[in-house]
Amino acid sequence: MKKKFQATVTKSDRLTYIEIPFDPSKEFSIKGKMELRVTINEVTYTKSLLSRGNGNYIMTLNKDMISKLGISVDGIVDVLLESPESDDKVLDDDSMIIEMYKKVRIKKEKSENLDILEAIFTRRSIRKFNKEKIENDKVELLLKAGLYAPTAENKKPIEFILVRETLILEEISNALPRGKMVQEANCAIVVCGNTDIQKQKGFVIEDGSASIQNILLAAHGMNLSAVWCGVYPMSKVVKDIRNIFELPSNIFPIGIVAIGYSEEERVIANRYDKEKIHIDKW
Ligand SMILES: Cc1cc2nc3c(=O)[nH]c(=O)nc-3n(C[C@H](O)[C@H](O)[C@H](O)COP(=O)(O)O)c2cc1C
Repeated sequence: MKKKFQATVTKSDRLTYIEIPFDPSKEFSIKGKMELRVTINEVTYTKSLLSRGNGNYIMTLNKDMISKLGISVDGIVDVLLESPESDDKVLDDDSMIIEMYKKVRIKKEKSENLDILEAIFTRRSIRKFNKEKIENDKVELLLKAGLYAPTAENKKPIEFILVRETLILEEISNALPRGKMVQEANCAIVVCGNTDIQKQKGFVIEDGSASIQNILLAAHGMNLSAVWCGVYPMSKVVKDIRNIFELPSNIFPIGIVAIGYSEEERVIANRYDKEKIHIDKW
């Protein structure tokens, strides 16, 4: 059983929703919970409809779904309702958004910046780069993002070496056990910690890691592709990177981010696992 219709996205005080223009309990002969397979703008999932009494049902849409589906309040959407398949999962809104991210292609326009949650949920390591050069203002923003990360005691012990020289990129790639892609990257940022500024090495590593994550997200937000290449705690790799850059003894390399433009398809991962969340106690 399938029913196709167009609906207007309506916003009330608390809810954004579409009205189902018929009584789905009759059309689909369902008693009790009204779980149906819904397709909106080519994204399919299974969801419970909300009853408003007398056979009137609505389907709620949350803010993220609206923006990710490219629809707007008062806009018209094409909807297909179907009886659910026996193995369909009913998704809560959060899981559904992740499903949508998987299906909706990442927008390629270079001018478009992602919002922070979209960037977090859609970032992936990309290890294939094309020859396109990263604009200098973007490189500057990456470095800036790296320095805006939190640091223990606000000591700010993180320093960078920006590498754009092909020969040095090649040297780095030879020093890394899993870093062949560095030689194809347009640039690399060697994230270093200064142990004169922060004496507790553990903190320096955490600070550097936060900085790297900021760079990865900033890169993704600007439609660049990046991958974190591990350096610390592999002592041989630390030594080789130290040698390449003739680092003073108070500076040690934590990790390297390789960055470039890429044509590689980004496959969105669903990593939310409720089992890993412990509320108030283990
Ligand atoms: C500390 C650390 C070191 C990593 N080192 C490497 C590396 O040397 N080479 C590499 O290709 N990826 C490296 N990665 C990237 C991980 O492999 C990647 O984050 C992981 O597979 C998850 O995939 P995603 O980044 O696409 O979400 C590293 C990530 C972290 C956090």
